[in-house]
Amino acid sequence: MALVVAVAALLTGTGLTAAPGAAPRMAHGHGYPADRIADEPTRRFTLTAATATVRVSGRDVAAWAFNGQVPGPELTATVGDVVQVTLRNQDIGRGVTLHWHGYDVPNGQDGVPGVTQAAVLPGEEFDYRFRADQAGTYWYHTHSVSDVGVRMGLYGVLVVRPGPVTGLDVTVPVHTLAGLALPAPRTEPVAAGTPVRMRLINTDSTTHRYALAGTAFRVAAIDGSDLRGPTSLVDTAVLIPAGGRYDLVFEAPATPVALLVDGRAVFSTGPVSTATGGWPVLDPLRYGAAAAAPWSRYDRTFTLVLDRGLDLRGLLPRYAHTVNGAAAPDIPSQVVHRNEVVRFRIVNRSQVVHPWHLHGHHVLVLSRDGEPATGSPLWLDSFDVRPGEVWVVAFRADNPGVWANHCHNLAHADAGMTLHLMYS
Ligand code: C2O
Ligand code: CU
Repeated sequence: MALVVAVAALLTGTGLTAAPGAAPRMAHGHGYPADRIADEPTRRFTLTAATATVRVSGRDVAAWAFNGQVPGPELTATVGDVVQVTLRNQDIGRGVTLHWHGYDVPNGQDGVPGVTQAAVLPGEEFDYRFRADQAGTYWYHTHSVSDVGVRMGLYGVLVVRPGPVTGLDVTVPVHTLAGLALPAPRTEPVAAGTPVRMRLINTDSTTHRYALAGTAFRVAAIDGSDLRGPTSLVDTAVLIPAGGRYDLVFEAPATPVALLVDGRAVFSTGPVSTATGGWPVLDPLRYGAAAAAPWSRYDRTFTLVLDRGLDLRGLLPRYAHTVNGAAAPDIPSQVVHRNEVVRFRIVNRSQVVHPWHLHGHHVLVLSRDGEPATGSPLWLDSFDVRPGEVWVVAFRADNPGVWANHCHNLAHADAGMTLHLMYS
């Protein structure tokens, strides 16, 4: 008999209830009313951002939390829903927004302060509304002082399903809060034969290594997009970049299974003792079945050279993370026309990994270091460009607006590595 289990966010600290604040005002300021769809919402949520104390591994930790918990509530929807999320800021002095990481919402709902809206200040609120038309695993996080804000806990999971849950469907949002690893380990027996989907989400600023021990599995989706013809893998680890998501699927065997993150078991169905440290790592560019590229020509190509350099333009000189020799806000915007097919060449000339993230679009990976991607088409929103690597990716400019294009090591983004893609 298959055990059917409703989704449960794998978590974390104890709740702490946020005290009701003063009556909220709508965020004022720049007023970018664009792109709000008129349809009545079918899924409504309220997220209140506030300072909180949460309990992690038996310790009280000062955090910034949505609804008193880290991660924030798991938001779920079914394809076709109109999702409305009311964001309230109780007492986060530096302001809050909601960015739907990997969800290609209309520009006015994208949550980038100073670009698509003003930051929501204490006592204010802002309504986001978008149609849930892409199924898959995503997450949300503040984009106001995002390095500090996300690190302190202002993030959560967004899952859009094509229909009702079948089998066991778990989310594993990995995060480091005050040096402590989330989520807390969880053990749950699962009946043999149950279809299992594990949605792995990396909400940190650096890469994590995931290993699923005790079963064969397939990688069904990356960054919310289904892969074509994923084959069965055994004793193989996956590396998930900052911001990235992998959905692993398998049928529960009669023997226990465990998911390890950097060697630490976070989910298991029983005791498993396997050394996973020596496993090979999956190369997603060579996994699954190839398909012809949807475009044969490119209207425009941009090159982004990632490096380090001195930035002398501010009040104080700083050692910045640069793109084409410049640091934010001095990196020229990339200008495209609607419906163009655009190519990015990203060259990492630095000594550190840069997890690249373009808002509002998924990019198709064409090649890495001159070698064409030969596996399933890979439509990514977050990908690690390692030192010395050159990635070529492409997308259709089909979502007008002004979009952040940045490194998702958020400390790097803060230290200059942010630019914008703009429609003319
Ligand atoms: Cu997940 Cu601009 O960020
Ligand atoms: Cu970076």
